[in-house]
Amino acid sequence: MSVTELFETKNVADDAELQFTTDGRLRHLLTLRGLKRQQMTDLLDRAETFLSPAGQPAVRSQALQRVTVGNLFFEPSTRTRASFELAAKRLGADVLNLDVNTSSRKKGESILDTIYTLQAMQVDVFVVRDASAGVPAYIARNVNDFVMVLNAGEANVSHPTQGLLDLLTIRQRKGSFEDLKVAIVGDIAHSRVARSASEGLLTMGVGDLRLISPEALAPEPQEFPGARILHNLKEGIRGADVVMALRIQRERIDSLDEIPGMDEYFANFGISHERMKLAAPDAIVMHPGPMNRGIEIESSLADGPSSVIVQQVTNGVAIRMALLEEVVKTMEKQ
Ligand code: CP
Repeated sequence: MSVTELFETKNVADDAELQFTTDGRLRHLLTLRGLKRQQMTDLLDRAETFLSPAGQPAVRSQALQRVTVGNLFFEPSTRTRASFELAAKRLGADVLNLDVNTSSRKKGESILDTIYTLQAMQVDVFVVRDASAGVPAYIARNVNDFVMVLNAGEANVSHPTQGLLDLLTIRQRKGSFEDLKVAIVGDIAHSRVARSASEGLLTMGVGDLRLISPEALAPEPQEFPGARILHNLKEGIRGADVVMALRIQRERIDSLDEIPGMDEYFANFGISHERMKLAAPDAIVMHPGPMNRGIEIESSLADGPSSVIVQQVTNGVAIRMALLEEVVKTMEKQ
């Protein structure tokens, strides 16, 4: 049975419930679905306390002094993996980075046997990225009662810590969410970033959320209730306060013949200085990374004053510190 088949019977509605203890505290983070506005706000507020001015030493504590965090990235990552590692170390945790290329999964060991092996070595928190939908929830259903699971990117389904760091960045620049017009542009169909950002933004009260993509990269409308799906960038970007460009997820596209050539893509869906003239005058530009400069975003725009891309990366460490602290506190109270 393939890994995909293993998980296709899962009930996604349950994932949102699975992540809470019976008294409603966050134990695992699998998806932003099910998190209340106040829970997200508390995480953003806590993350703010882990930020220090540029050039000052990073904020540290010993909140995770007796905790072991295992990073299991079965898909490539720079930002998420490095920021989870730094977040855990800055909170005083032991950190294990499993090298998947030399791990026994390469010899056919099942994902659960890998988890049980590391659990036997007293890993308390598993940070998991995987190309197959359902893997983080599958692990969460099977770990010991005192172990926590954090989703670090799941197929095209969910990337909840990215969603939270995006919310933090928007709140820092815009103050609040209610009156914002947000445009997410690009390969929406294959994007876990778009899904988690949309879930977070709608929960925080954004009333005007636009998803703009070529027809071939559009999601099913029912996947994004509360958002408008558009195929014209000029229409979608007009008056936007926040413009988020997405990477084309080539690794998840079955046939590259179905998508426009890269020059055509940039001409129609690339975020450029020229296009940003249609957005609000103080609009910010976001990108989750890794970026394809000159395809999704004009290179000088990515490095310009309206870009918050570096701020997103900085916030990623703070959000992951807040989250690690929160789930460990939950388990200490059990
Ligand atoms: N944004 C994001 O998930 O980047 P990485 O793939 O580098 O972790």
